[in-house]
Amino acid sequence: MSKFTSVSTFPLAGRPVHRVGYGAMQLAGPGVFGPPKDRDAAIALLRQAVASGVNHIDTSDFYGPHITNQLIREALHPYPHDLVIVTKVGALRGEDGSWIPALEPQAIKRGVYDNLRNLGVDALDVVNVRIFGNVHTPAEGSIEKQVAALAELKHQGLVRHIGLSNVTSTQVAEAQGIVEIVCVQNQYNLVQREDDALVDELAGKGIAYVPFFPLGGFTPIQSSLLSKVAQTIGATPMQVALAWLLHRAPNILLIPGTSSLEHLRENMQAAQWSLPEAERAQLDAIGQAKGES
Ligand SMILES: NC(=O)c1ccc[n+]([C@@H]2O[C@H](COP(=O)([O-])OP(=O)(O)OC[C@H]3O[C@@H](n4cnc5c(N)ncnc54)[C@H](OP(=O)(O)O)[C@@H]3O)[C@@H](O)[C@H]2O)c1
Repeated sequence: MSKFTSVSTFPLAGRPVHRVGYGAMQLAGPGVFGPPKDRDAAIALLRQAVASGVNHIDTSDFYGPHITNQLIREALHPYPHDLVIVTKVGALRGEDGSWIPALEPQAIKRGVYDNLRNLGVDALDVVNVRIFGNVHTPAEGSIEKQVAALAELKHQGLVRHIGLSNVTSTQVAEAQGIVEIVCVQNQYNLVQREDDALVDELAGKGIAYVPFFPLGGFTPIQSSLLSKVAQTIGATPMQVALAWLLHRAPNILLIPGTSSLEHLRENMQAAQWSLPEAERAQLDAIGQAKGES
């Protein structure tokens, strides 16, 4: 697999990162809980991602829990200078694998310490505070307490940059009144287009927008129109779904998740596909049709 040559970058945490990164959530066991089936394969995949040009990895200490970060550390520590690791706080895992909101200032502090320990670093590049909202979609309400807690940890030098996850435009503005926000990570893809206006707003402010579930998440997107466009341009449907996001706005950074080397290769090649205007218009219609239904 060749190193990226023509792929454009976008600044994240003061560094230019390739627009195709990697989301590490799929490396834990089923349900993002427990160890992976094949630990060596997970480590090999992380090393291959970085060797292939990925310099933006998304993780959290609540994946596993702890396991994904421990895999990243074993595979990549000492970390390459250009690698930006973005983690998140705001949840804990129950013994049954359940996701428990942990958004009190003390819990946020504990989450930062868990990430520092398991990633093996003195300071975290970027920490997103993951607001619970309506699970995978945001809900209005003040996030002042959570952002202030992270800002304090930034002041102490434990966190270099702060981002937000699962938030509204109003919440972004509230957080920006407290501390600099470098990225927003919300659900967005070809089908889930509720954040269309927020993507454009953040592009105007030079803030990275990092869609989670870029391929649809646990149930990847299926659409006959997507398959038809993929066939027309000679790509796979998932490559087209990623290429559409890259074309959507310059501040979109991708973190597709996979536990497969073959899919990693495919996803990284997505940046090479250019989408003709006619095909792009057809793809746009997928999300618009959903919005109207
Ligand atoms: N902030 C948040 O609340 C939040 C929530 C969810 C996720 N995230 C982050 O976002 C990242 C991306 O989300 P995600 O991993 O849940 O979902 P995703 O990237 O939308 O999709 C992952 C799924 O697609 C499959 N896949 C990946 N590449 C493929 C390809 N080329 N062809 C066919 N199938 C493919 C994967 O299976 P295989 O393993 O078989 O490839 C996996 O089932 C996560 O890794 C995590 O870092 C954040």
